[in-house]
Amino acid sequence: MRISVAIDGPAGAGKSTIAKMIGEKFNLMYINTGSMYRAVTLTAMNANISEKNVDDLVKIVASLEMHFEEDHLFVNKEDLTDMIGMPVISNNVSKYAAVPKVREILVKLQQDIAKKFNVIMDGRDIGTVVLKDATFKFYLTASSEERAKRRYKELITKGIDVDYDTILSDIIKRDYIDTHREVSPLKKAIDAIEIDSNDLDIDGVAQKMIDYINSNIKNNN
Ligand code: DC
Repeated sequence: MRISVAIDGPAGAGKSTIAKMIGEKFNLMYINTGSMYRAVTLTAMNANISEKNVDDLVKIVASLEMHFEEDHLFVNKEDLTDMIGMPVISNNVSKYAAVPKVREILVKLQQDIAKKFNVIMDGRDIGTVVLKDATFKFYLTASSEERAKRRYKELITKGIDVDYDTILSDIIKRDYIDTHREVSPLKKAIDAIEIDSNDLDIDGVAQKMIDYINSNIKNNN
């Protein structure tokens, strides 16, 4: 039987760190769907294609062969992991991710991967659209200030020069676009378990999920 775990939530809630940990624990392939939208953004921006030029955008997206090795995203055999984490991509990705045709292609790709492998996928629409029948669904939240604080630390640790207020306002802007777009806006699936990580560290959140998965896998047997 295929197992799939969906983790949704706003930017900076800790989804990818948690997904990586849970993936290792339960031997699931980790698919970071945000990085797929980021790769589209990077490629389109490099080719000077705006989000309004849907025809050219679709051609570009269709020409990208994407696969994951561990938590690295390879696009046409090139490891884009570092480049797609840059603030310039974070600040533009929501516009490209709001294009319905882009979503159509990436969602299909994500669903195909989940048919072949046991996966843990994180994103914005995994529990509501991509994996509606996921075995486990989680919705991870934290206040925008807490998320900005974490993103700030992460970028500074990577040696990227940023300032906290800019990150906070970018997060608020991105939340707005992600929750208000017409197609697949960010929202909690009705059957998702919500975890607020304001007062929990990464290990605390991961442990909650692990306990939930373990007790429900056992209950199913
Ligand atoms: O998780 P992230 O910050 O890397 O996501 C980047 C952007 O991609 C985010 O602003 C919203 C979009 N996204 C999406 O629309 N649907 C997904 N499943 C994942 C990300």
